Amino acid sequence: MCGIVGYIGPKQATPLLIEGLKRLEYRGYDSAGVAVYDGESLETRRAAGKIVKLEGALAADPVTGKVGIAHTRWATHGPPTERNAHPHLSSDDSVAVVHNGIIENADVLRKQLTALGHTFRSDTDTETISHLVQELYDGSLEEAVIGALRKVEGTFGIAVVSSRDPQKIVAARKGSPLLIGVGDGEYFLASDASAILAHTRQVVYLDDGDLAVLTPDGYKVMDINASPIRRSVERIEWDLEAIERGGFDHFMLKEIFEQPTTVGNTMRGRLILEDGTSKLGGINMSHEQLMNIDNVVITACGTSWHSALIGEMMIEDFARIPTEVEYASEFRYRNPIVTPRTLCIVISQSGETADTLAAMREAKRRGAHTLGFVNVVGSTIAREDDGGIYLHAGPEIGVASTKAFTSQVIALALFALKLGRKRTLSVMRGREIAQALDALPKQIQSILDQAAAIEKIADSYKDAHNFLYLGRGYNFPAALEGALKLKEISYIHAEGYPAAEMKHGPIALIDESMPVVFIAPHDAVFDKIVSNIQEVKARHGKTIVITSRDEPALEGLIDHEIRIPETVDMLTPVLASIPLQLLAYYIAVKRGANVDQPRNLAKSVTVE
Ligand code: F6R
Repeated sequence: MCGIVGYIGPKQATPLLIEGLKRLEYRGYDSAGVAVYDGESLETRRAAGKIVKLEGALAADPVTGKVGIAHTRWATHGPPTERNAHPHLSSDDSVAVVHNGIIENADVLRKQLTALGHTFRSDTDTETISHLVQELYDGSLEEAVIGALRKVEGTFGIAVVSSRDPQKIVAARKGSPLLIGVGDGEYFLASDASAILAHTRQVVYLDDGDLAVLTPDGYKVMDINASPIRRSVERIEWDLEAIERGGFDHFMLKEIFEQPTTVGNTMRGRLILEDGTSKLGGINMSHEQLMNIDNVVITACGTSWHSALIGEMMIEDFARIPTEVEYASEFRYRNPIVTPRTLCIVISQSGETADTLAAMREAKRRGAHTLGFVNVVGSTIAREDDGGIYLHAGPEIGVASTKAFTSQVIALALFALKLGRKRTLSVMRGREIAQALDALPKQIQSILDQAAAIEKIADSYKDAHNFLYLGRGYNFPAALEGALKLKEISYIHAEGYPAAEMKHGPIALIDESMPVVFIAPHDAVFDKIVSNIQEVKARHGKTIVITSRDEPALEGLIDHEIRIPETVDMLTPVLASIPLQLLAYYIAVKRGANVDQPRNLAKSVTVE
């Protein structure tokens, strides 16, 4: 999604802004720009396409100055051209604005401002803000921004600079994240901590409704009535290494290989082997509250929705509590049955996904207790939920989610275990599951050790046009996730199905050119899936089978086999997802796709 960076301090702003933008590249964008105050006026440079184009524009026509704002844009209103790239200037060039989010009444404002004599130079909704600020300026930039925001409807994270009040950056947020980086005699603004981590670990997260003023001497935070607000300075706990490729060809590959560690980190200090349960300090729920849950609703989008499906089965299996999974985008506009005895779990890597956030707010409004299973510390969902579990998977830079998925399943397993042990799950069964969880990091490593063999399989299928992914029980969501990984990074059409559903339609697609990935570990439904593999083979489909032991029943049915270790049924999707991620990755690389920044995708989807 769009990215914002700002700098004010004693150094040249442009190189710091460009460095920050590069750190945000992973989020997805299609144009970029900077505005810097050069001592007399605001200078902007913008370019369609990648940041390297913007660097070219800056090399041809440099800008110097110690106050500036910058942006990477992911087009919503108007195509990704230079004229639509941010920052946007006011008619008299005195105000520059960068903006994440959507101004819903932009058309009305545009008409009003045009009638007042303002000339618009882009198709964007954002440009209305710069004209409004110019119109309302009366000696104080923050007052003009406050006045402008009173007229604006929609969501925003904005940064504003003005040549009429040049020693300031004014920022504000409503529905789009922003933080202040507190350096040594210098201040940064960013939509994501990665942008500024090279310069400071001290950050102030802004809340919705906050407005901040940064000057070379400090910063202040206030509300829309200009009343001061205290916001604490927090420390970012991860290192720069976490957001660098560290010798891997792509972030995605690095993140796939990190999973023995990240899965371990999700469990660290939480798993109690002896009692077959878990300790989850952050959920903020008493024993009584946990015992009084009538039903659970889990809501999420994309990959996180797939982990939710696994969580649903685990909670029902371990704790016998009726559980439903809902796409957040659907939940927010339905009239769901939610009561004060409903527990609503929201799952989100970024903690910023607009639909998921809105679904959580809706569940809260209806009285549910909300838990956020979130990776990004300090993100909006993590700040607004009633409690939660941080995944501790570290920053996920690759657009395709990998390590966050496995950590989400682990967090759900830990929670289901705790809930189960309070209710119906025996200590013996609890211990068995806890031990299986504990064994996962080594088991994942043993699958990663087969990466070269999986890369070879990818060679055979890089030119395929379609793929089917089939699994049953706990591995049906793994099939959905495998298909999503492949389609989003390789652009091969892929579908995931419960294996037995194949004969109700998709079987018509099977011929010698259709690869079918079966997730068939030796679990409770293994015998059932063997017949589905036979059905594919009988129609000359190509079979790639992920299984866990030598099985005479599979003889003659497998074109390519990938072995995963054995574990309890509910954890098989964690192990199965590793070869699925590797297969998708290698196929995409062999097709020449940009795996870390797939076309049309953004890392966190902060618009509806
Ligand atoms: C797929 C992927 C997306 C996200 C989805 C939700 O690889 O990354 O499907 O899972 O956009 O994002 P979060 O988890 O940040 O809410």
